[in-house]
Amino acid sequence: MAAVMMPGAPVADAVFADLEPRIEKLLGVGHTPGLGTVLVGDDGASERYVGMKMKKAEELGWTSPHIHLPEDATQADVVAAIRRMNDDPRVDAFLVQHPTPPQIDYDAALMEVDPDKDVDGMHPLNLGRLALSMPGPVPCTPAGIEALLAFYEIPVAGRDVCVLGRGATLGRPLALLLSQKRPTANAAVTVVHTGVPDWPKYTKRADIVIAAAGVPGILQPEHLTPGVVVVGGGVRYEGRKLLPDVDESCEEVAGAITPRVGGVGPTTIAMLFRNAVEAAERRAGLTA
Ligand SMILES: NC(=O)c1ccc[n+]([C@@H]2O[C@H](COP(=O)([O-])OP(=O)(O)OC[C@H]3O[C@@H](n4cnc5c(N)ncnc54)[C@H](OP(=O)(O)O)[C@@H]3O)[C@@H](O)[C@H]2O)c1
Repeated sequence: MAAVMMPGAPVADAVFADLEPRIEKLLGVGHTPGLGTVLVGDDGASERYVGMKMKKAEELGWTSPHIHLPEDATQADVVAAIRRMNDDPRVDAFLVQHPTPPQIDYDAALMEVDPDKDVDGMHPLNLGRLALSMPGPVPCTPAGIEALLAFYEIPVAGRDVCVLGRGATLGRPLALLLSQKRPTANAAVTVVHTGVPDWPKYTKRADIVIAAAGVPGILQPEHLTPGVVVVGGGVRYEGRKLLPDVDESCEEVAGAITPRVGGVGPTTIAMLFRNAVEAAERRAGLTA
């Protein structure tokens, strides 16, 4: 039997519907939210991602200050751009689009971001808050995956979740998030990676498998138990072509699965705006 599809767009629509009155309230107190973006270089996929975020900000009536640095920008240029965003009163929250060119030390640059304006939730202070279950911006793709599972009423609490990949943007924060004590999380989470060569042993026993490796086609039907819930987070781009971690044939084994295109992408953007609204509310004095 074909798997039930779990597209991200309806989840994102629901998140934006929840944000609408909060944005209205901000505008009502004279605070126009501002989402800043810093792009370094000319990577096509990164340009598209930044463009999508700016377009959505404009659709919502926000300001969207943007700094585009050249491919040969130096670390000092990136730090200066970050400081401009930190100091810009129009900016509630901003991001430095990843990946950056090889001469840029992204982690060092991240340390310069004002943690209160960190819309990606990737500053070490915010990742520390996540580890301690303290309030703060949560990395957007993991937060979007939790929201997607909740939206499709997939039980997560008490279930066996296997995350394939321990990267800083996806696998690691997702494991922290889904193991937190909360009705939409509270799972038994296993994280597998290249240090676990027999990782299919773990994906095969899981109720929910989340691919977060960035290795096209790494997840195959023989790695899954029939009826499993599969979420595809990892992708790689070849030019404009998107190559997901989850092989198409997994749809024949899974009970529910995200589509190859339009799965976690829309939920990631929605969570970015949720983090930005929270930052704007703090700066407008509407929350602590
Ligand atoms: N859709 C979205 O909106 C969105 C947003 C963010 C990220 N992503 C995607 O999510 C993926 C992960 O991002 P990331 O930054 O967390 O990546 P990352 O830092 O590159 O981490 C990849 C992880 O996958 C593991 N891995 C790679 N090859 C493997 C193999 N053959 N067997 C087992 N494990 C393997 C790596 O293991 P080791 O640690 O042992 O090397 C690593 O833990 C990327 O494809 C990225 O494009 C998507």
